[in-house]
Amino acid sequence: MPAAFEISGLRVVYPSRLGPVHALEGISLQAEDGEFISVLGPSGCGKSTLMKALAGLLPPRQGSIRIYGEPVRGPAPGVGIVFQSAVLMNWRTVLGNIMLQVEVQRLDYRAHLERARDLIRLVGIEGFEHHYPFQLSGGMQQRVSLCRALIHDPPLLLMDEPFGALDALTREMMNLELQRIWLDRRKTVLFITHSISEAVFLADRVVVLSRRPGRVQAVAQVALPRPRDLATMESPDFVRIVGELRRELQAHGGLG
Ligand SMILES: Nc1ncnc2c1ncn2[C@@H]1O[C@H](COP(=O)(O)OP(=O)(O)OP(=O)(O)O)[C@@H](O)[C@H]1O
Ligand SMILES: [Mg+2]
Repeated sequence: MPAAFEISGLRVVYPSRLGPVHALEGISLQAEDGEFISVLGPSGCGKSTLMKALAGLLPPRQGSIRIYGEPVRGPAPGVGIVFQSAVLMNWRTVLGNIMLQVEVQRLDYRAHLERARDLIRLVGIEGFEHHYPFQLSGGMQQRVSLCRALIHDPPLLLMDEPFGALDALTREMMNLELQRIWLDRRKTVLFITHSISEAVFLADRVVVLSRRPGRVQAVAQVALPRPRDLATMESPDFVRIVGELRRELQAHGGLG
């Protein structure tokens, strides 16, 4: 089985009228199939850039990226993406937005409609299937984009601060739900967050990026048993790993 993804020597420089912006440098990172990797780093260090490069959404960059052994040359179909902001289509309903992937990839509509309804229930937005994005709160829009990312059951899920807009309690609930989905379906996940405890709670491994240009500054293994629950967050091992990561981030300029 090839690695779920394999990034080596990735370097991204954005051209801009005010001069080039050097976003990522020398990133090498590999994920086993079914692994959950969290990414932490200061604001502007290139986390979203890393995700977009992996998803095949960036113009040419240096280095190589493979997903399940296949070189990434453009948007890859087996990838589900939750962007930092929900980016829903305003003229489509909640259900219409979720079913977009199914239509584009010409998958079985009826079978996926059932699945869409299950996901809608799972994330707690039932009753809003026929509403439009502008009629939803920011947190609800994020949940729609989570459903949209999961609808075609992709083996690789890329999530860019998916729960940033949620209140603290809903966020904890979504963390538990995401763990449940992950344990159930064993997807490979790259999960970007600003929350150290969220990163540790969900991950097998936490990767810390440095200030821009982002480089891999530290990697922490999280060997806590699963399923993890809210009591896990009070366990000595959890508290120790969170403390180590906090010190690592503080030593290199904080979370931004
Ligand atoms: N399309 C673009 N064109 C030019 N520069 C860009 C572009 N996208 C991002 N950048 C620059 O690249 C750097 C990294 O941006 P990126 O969005 O990847 O950071 P981030 O780590 O996701 O930040 P945050 O935590 O605030 O979301 C920033 O300095 C940003 O200004
Ligand atoms: Mg970002």
